[in-house]
Amino acid sequence: MIEAKELTKRYAGRTAVDGISFNVAQGEIVGFLGPNGAGKSTTLRMLTCFLSASEGTAKVAGFDIYEDSIEVRKRIGYMPENVPLYPDMRVIEYLKFRAQIKGLRYREGKRAVEEAMDICSLTEVDRKIISTLSKGYKQRVGLADALVNKPDLLILDEPTNGLDPNQIRQSRELIKRLGERHTILISTHILSEVEMTCNRVIILDRGQIKASDTPENLIRRLRQPGAVVLEIKGKTEDAVERVQSIEGVNEVTKIDQRNGWLSLSIGTDPNIDIREEIFDLTLKEKWKVRELASRAASLEDAFVDLVQSKAVASPEPEAEEVEEKEEVDA
Ligand SMILES: Nc1ncnc2c1ncn2[C@@H]1O[C@H](COP(=O)(O)OP(=O)(O)OP(=O)(O)O)[C@@H](O)[C@H]1O
Ligand SMILES: [Mg+2]
Repeated sequence: MIEAKELTKRYAGRTAVDGISFNVAQGEIVGFLGPNGAGKSTTLRMLTCFLSASEGTAKVAGFDIYEDSIEVRKRIGYMPENVPLYPDMRVIEYLKFRAQIKGLRYREGKRAVEEAMDICSLTEVDRKIISTLSKGYKQRVGLADALVNKPDLLILDEPTNGLDPNQIRQSRELIKRLGERHTILISTHILSEVEMTCNRVIILDRGQIKASDTPENLIRRLRQPGAVVLEIKGKTEDAVERVQSIEGVNEVTKIDQRNGWLSLSIGTDPNIDIREEIFDLTLKEKWKVRELASRAASLEDAFVDLVQSKAVASPEPEAEEVEEKEEVDA
């Protein structure tokens, strides 16, 4: 569905996207991740033909973003970072207007707008003036706009930005549902969302691709030391030493001790599981056990491992520069 080759964007001598190549297959839900300024929005704008690439190219549904940009736009539903809406219009008017711009005929447009409003749970606010809507509803209008021409591919730039936890959960469900019918490329900073909805993750850092894999594989590849939490009661005076003597255990720290219960955090070598040995020890020592759990690595750990250390070491040089006005869509 997307084939990007050596896509590059330079802004006034500064490279925002640095020769990236990647594919997105039909039916995939791909999470596009990266720290602020990594080049996510710039890449998405190039793919949606709102920004021209400095070098390289991409095909969307087989059409070149330069040569067939009209065909590309027809097949894409794009929800930009800051959803540009007409604040004085009513929801339904706006969506019908957008359907018309996208070339849908009156009847067809009317039906498509109703369907998009239904999918995005907007029907109850269809007559409201957009400026009076809450942020979450405005985001949904942006999403309904992206859906109205029934695109094969949805490109969503931080669709959950600024939403409350409830709305984020709803939007996650919605994106999952949309994934049944559309190929989706979604940029977001909410990693739990990615872990739950995306088949694959592309991590961008300073304009370059750092990783492209399933969330599970990224977590598995993470060479992070394991940790186990143990909470016990009984004769625990020398528990730290006892646990320490298990092979593979590196470091044992007391987290808490109250009402006779002792909590320990047990660091281990990467990729080993010592819970069984710990359990055997608790039996031997006749400790009561209230918790024995491994702290599983998350996509967040993988993300931090891949990008954060460098970002902290050298902050973005032009972070304070005011961004140029975005090239806006019709
Ligand atoms: N119109 C512009 N003119 C000059 N520089 C720009 C412009 N747009 C973006 N940049 C720069 O390009 C780099 C990438 O920006 P981009 O918006 O693509 O990042 P992002 O990954 O989407 O970040 P965020 O997570 O904050 O949305 C940044 O350094 C940014 O300052
Ligand atoms: Mg962005």
